Amino acid sequence: MSRIQIFGGKRLYGKIHIDGAKNSLLPIMTACLMVPNAVYLNNVPKLSDLSEMLHILARLGCTVNRQGNTVKIEAKNLHTHIIDNQSAHKIRGSIFVMGALLARLGKVQLPLPGGCAIGSRPIDIHLTLLRQIGVKCHYHKDFIHASYTIRRHRKPIILSLDFPSVGATENIIQATTLGILGNTYIIHGAAKEPEIVDLCNFLNQCGANITGAGTDTITVQSVTRLHGTTYTPIPDRINTGSYLIAIAATGGDVTLTNTIPEHQINLLSKLKKIGAKITTTKDSIRIKMQHRNPFHFNIHTAPYPGFPTDLQSQFCALAAMTQGRSTITENLFENRFRYVPELIKLGAKIDIERNQARIKGVKTLSATLTSNICPSSYEIPNAQNCHGTIVTANDLRGGVALVIAALAANGTTTIENAEYIYRGHQDIVKDFRQLGANIVAFDQ
Ligand code: UD1
Repeated sequence: MSRIQIFGGKRLYGKIHIDGAKNSLLPIMTACLMVPNAVYLNNVPKLSDLSEMLHILARLGCTVNRQGNTVKIEAKNLHTHIIDNQSAHKIRGSIFVMGALLARLGKVQLPLPGGCAIGSRPIDIHLTLLRQIGVKCHYHKDFIHASYTIRRHRKPIILSLDFPSVGATENIIQATTLGILGNTYIIHGAAKEPEIVDLCNFLNQCGANITGAGTDTITVQSVTRLHGTTYTPIPDRINTGSYLIAIAATGGDVTLTNTIPEHQINLLSKLKKIGAKITTTKDSIRIKMQHRNPFHFNIHTAPYPGFPTDLQSQFCALAAMTQGRSTITENLFENRFRYVPELIKLGAKIDIERNQARIKGVKTLSATLTSNICPSSYEIPNAQNCHGTIVTANDLRGGVALVIAALAANGTTTIENAEYIYRGHQDIVKDFRQLGANIVAFDQ
């Protein structure tokens, strides 16, 4: 078990470089299954979810090498279409393999992805779209078996999503990219997230013919072959958001480099309203927060360009220390408030009613000290003997919310199950230490 310990209450100052986006890299990596030559991906952070995906690709027959932050993937010969239980259960992203393997091999077998900590996460939209293009899917025991014989179509195939699922959009794009020249697929109701645009940019750079990404109608004209390329994914907009929210909570002056302000319009306007000063360049965002207690706010999560569900828990941690009452309404996942009891241990005042958290801001969150040796210096000597309040991460973003709360709280907080946080952050401890936070990591 990994733990992170934080002695909070310090303002943070400095710079952080943002890595490539995990949620872009997962589908881009599976798309590499359709490319028989070498693909070089730059700015790839060392995240447990991405390492799992690379293991899946390697087990399917890809050669995978990492040199620094560049990963080389070569899918010259794939020797199986079967994703084993062990791989698939570790990351939900394994579902993206479906579209790519169907396009490349015409068949795929994978375990049912099942639910996860944030909700049941069904795959009905993925399967409906795949069936609409002629994929035959059936369940046997706990596995999905799918096979696909691509036929020539005289007219465009019209597909439509009832809800703009990010994963289903990415899967159907991959299933239709490689095929018979002249086949056209028009996908209505597509998700518009920047990660979808990134996947399509990557595929187009490999020779695909996809237009409309970033709008709700995407057109894929199949090509018969893709070729290798070198590609740099977009910076992670969720990690950018998490760091901005952290500074809004602790106060300070921090510049995030290698980021795209355009992807954060909703978030930046919210941060300005609660009292942060934001300045941007083409690829950087500077946040200055003078006072510790931001103004209260209301948030409703929604598909892009709406407010991202992946930032609601971090905003809830911030809401816990605002002036006045805030509300957060979660409209995408049914189980995304599991971090709330942990915030309450730090003194947050939060009630949950159905999909809404109602938060009454307090002046300061505080970790009750169980030891009186917690220091206020940069390092945390005897940190393991100085647990303060112990909280537990249950999922990636909820874990980051606990880090934010602990950074702003008085006293020492120990966050258990920090593995969840490392699914999306290469080194969150190093990042916050370089801003001056008293934070250490322990592995057991
Ligand atoms: C992706 C992101 C995740 C983010 C989410 C919403 C990746 C790897 N993950 O997840 O971080 O929180 O988008 O922005 O990119 N749904 C169905 N049936 C389906 C598919 C989805 O009912 O077949 C529902 C889900 O249960 C959920 C909602 O649609 O309630 C959104 O899911 P979706 O957009 O598919 O999210 P993911 O692609 O799983």
